[in-house]
Amino acid sequence: MTLTNHSVLETLHEIKAPGRPHSLVEAGAIRDLEIDGGTVRLVLAVEVADPSDIERLRATVEGALQGMDEVAEVELRIQPMMPMAAAPRPPAPEPETWADRIPGVRRVVAVASGKGGVGKSTVAANLAHALALAGHSVGLLDADIYGPSQQLMMGATDDPMGDEDGKIYPVEAPGGVKVMSFGFLVDVDQPVIWRGPMLQKALEQFFGDVHWGELDYLIVDLPPGTGDVALTLCQNVPLAGVVIVTTPQDVALIDARKGLNMFRKLEARVLGIVENMAGFCCPACGHVEHVFGSGGGARTAEALGVPLLGSVPLDPEVVVGGDSGSPVVLARPESASARAFAEIAERVAAAT
Ligand SMILES: Nc1ncnc2c1ncn2[C@@H]1O[C@H](COP(=O)(O)OP(=O)(O)OP(=O)(O)O)[C@@H](O)[C@H]1O
Ligand SMILES: [Mg+2]
Repeated sequence: MTLTNHSVLETLHEIKAPGRPHSLVEAGAIRDLEIDGGTVRLVLAVEVADPSDIERLRATVEGALQGMDEVAEVELRIQPMMPMAAAPRPPAPEPETWADRIPGVRRVVAVASGKGGVGKSTVAANLAHALALAGHSVGLLDADIYGPSQQLMMGATDDPMGDEDGKIYPVEAPGGVKVMSFGFLVDVDQPVIWRGPMLQKALEQFFGDVHWGELDYLIVDLPPGTGDVALTLCQNVPLAGVVIVTTPQDVALIDARKGLNMFRKLEARVLGIVENMAGFCCPACGHVEHVFGSGGGARTAEALGVPLLGSVPLDPEVVVGGDSGSPVVLARPESASARAFAEIAERVAAAT
């Protein structure tokens, strides 16, 4: 077996963060993870009550990683942080916005598109996994009221659990991303007509009643177009940014522009566009053939006046990954599409 971020994260998943019930991965302690042959370079940011915690943690982590067959060397840096309890904090005001109710969620990033079927959910699922593989703690909220698809795409087949306080626990998908979806609330085979207040209430629940825990990123998969969900979200949650997904055809540009203008009007920060299904990735050799010519994504981004976060080829593996609950970033990390998603995640992380 070769050494991957995924296998290292699995090992780190077994180790508890000092003084916490969560693992290092869940507590968002992994700040940097790099694999170079048999060498693992890792930066951990942890809250420590006692300096001896650092040495204890160092010994545990180094021991666990050295125990992996493929690991030859471990370069570990531990950044101690002041425990939350000790850090001076202003008195907590009464919760007013939805965001106040998810204090552990550091950034909310929405994935949107001007029209349906361009691969928004695919991008959201792979972006979530790519961020998780880069060491972030990540949640994915499927807010597509018309056609929730993330349970299937993320392989999150269990039902979410609740507790006696009315909190709902998101389902942890293979790979560690926490998933919550409208699909858990409704029968996905039945049409549901959401009216304004009902929709508002259901969306609010996802922020108020779901126990997301500590997350570096909450990725929100929006329904297509410029509807109520995007509006309600922008009005109630400060977004770290919006990713707009589009396809290479010129007609898609019109829809992308429409979506973009809506978010601009709502004063949400658009991080850039993802050009999806750009060029065909040959299943036999992995070569990407630019059927529509290359550079379209960059031109589209320029025409829209936003950065190009990346171009993902049309790749049968992406479909297989989505249908099997194991997105291509996890299932085929070496493929051209997975690499494109990893790059998109890097740009999103750098911009937020
Ligand atoms: N890069 C890609 N290569 C090949 N197929 C893709 C790619 N991206 C998405 N698809 C496929 O296209 C279909 C639509 O993708 P997806 O469901 O992600 O789109 P969407 O924009 O979320 O759709 P909707 O608007 O219905 O929510 C899926 O079958 C998916 O597997
Ligand atoms: Mg979708």
